[in-house]
Amino acid sequence: MSTRREVMALGAASAVTGCVPSLAKSTYTSLAETIRSPLAAHPDSVELIRFAALAGNGHNTQAWRFVVAPSRIAVLPDLSRRTPVVDPDDHHLFVSLGCAVENLALAAEGTGRSAKAVFNAAGEGRLDVELGQSRSSPSNLFQAIPRRQCTRSEYSGAAVPLADIKQLETACAVDGVSIVIETAPPKLNAIRDFVVQGNSRQMEAPAFCEELKRWIRFNEKDAMASRDGLFSAASGSPQLPTWVGNAMFPLVFTEKSENDKYARQMASSSGVAVFIGDKADRDHWIKVGRSVQRFTLQIAVLGMKYAVINQPIEVASVRSGFAKWLGAPNARPDFVLRFGYAKLDQNLPKSLRRPVSDIVVRT
Ligand SMILES: Cc1cc2nc3c(=O)[nH]c(=O)nc-3n(C[C@H](O)[C@H](O)[C@H](O)COP(=O)(O)O)c2cc1C
Repeated sequence: MSTRREVMALGAASAVTGCVPSLAKSTYTSLAETIRSPLAAHPDSVELIRFAALAGNGHNTQAWRFVVAPSRIAVLPDLSRRTPVVDPDDHHLFVSLGCAVENLALAAEGTGRSAKAVFNAAGEGRLDVELGQSRSSPSNLFQAIPRRQCTRSEYSGAAVPLADIKQLETACAVDGVSIVIETAPPKLNAIRDFVVQGNSRQMEAPAFCEELKRWIRFNEKDAMASRDGLFSAASGSPQLPTWVGNAMFPLVFTEKSENDKYARQMASSSGVAVFIGDKADRDHWIKVGRSVQRFTLQIAVLGMKYAVINQPIEVASVRSGFAKWLGAPNARPDFVLRFGYAKLDQNLPKSLRRPVSDIVVRT
């Protein structure tokens, strides 16, 4: 699921239409920066929620709501923003909630509060984050929140020092979640094959392509109008008028071009991390999200890049083979990402978020 899909598509489309990306400092860039402006020393709950919502989330649907009460913020799913084709059981939706809760806790702890999250499985499911007082000082992970982003491009291929791999493992340690990190080329090649297999199954499904297209924002204007979804330029693709993007999408978004792109991206990556919850339930999906968010913030701390390659786990038939290959045939692998270092001059625009007033419910 992702803008991974349209990068190649729009690259080819641009060659056809002659459109040039307009990525000079723009209203879009200013908005993306404002959304990520630093927190004040003593932020209120709404400001903490602004930082929570900077978390990674599937298709950038931002399928969350926050209920503010004295000393507590509840995080709930927004099921009107589900992606039922790629995520039929809301697995990614709850992983995304976990990512947001981790940001919320880091932001609270970075500004003099304690934060304890308790999952309540009743009904749609909710997380109650109790806020107290604490003397903790701002962590590196907290400070990296505005800098973290997915970078769906080819990397430099440079190896990651073992000490940095250890830091990544330490940063993402969460009870109930295991992580497997692979850096050896034969293992990365095997994972590439699962990515390609999963991608092929998805590309054969018109409903998958249709759902993905609905969340793509082909230009700044559309991205700023909705402030959600997958902005093409944030994936390194040129911008296009909406009608051109929609028309070109099925023509250039092909199984072969996508698979070739993933193979190149995998060959340029230094490693892959796979996250596996102890159980396949919403509580553990949230824990996985917390672990993923911590890992990706540590990536930003280390000046590295990452991108999500969830194809091996999004297609159930591919997922079972992938679990066997991992040596965990009874587990449900929950999240897969590749990581590495940017090539020079690789600063893609950051994704937008909806206004905080749209996601906060006051009691
Ligand atoms: C649960 C989850 C699933 C995701 N799945 C994919 C994916 O399959 N492909 C992809 O390229 N990005 C994927 N992403 C990354 C999101 O698209 C990305 O976080 C979102 O667009 C916001 O952009 P940002 O992370 O750069 O802020 C996923 C993220 C999460 C948390």
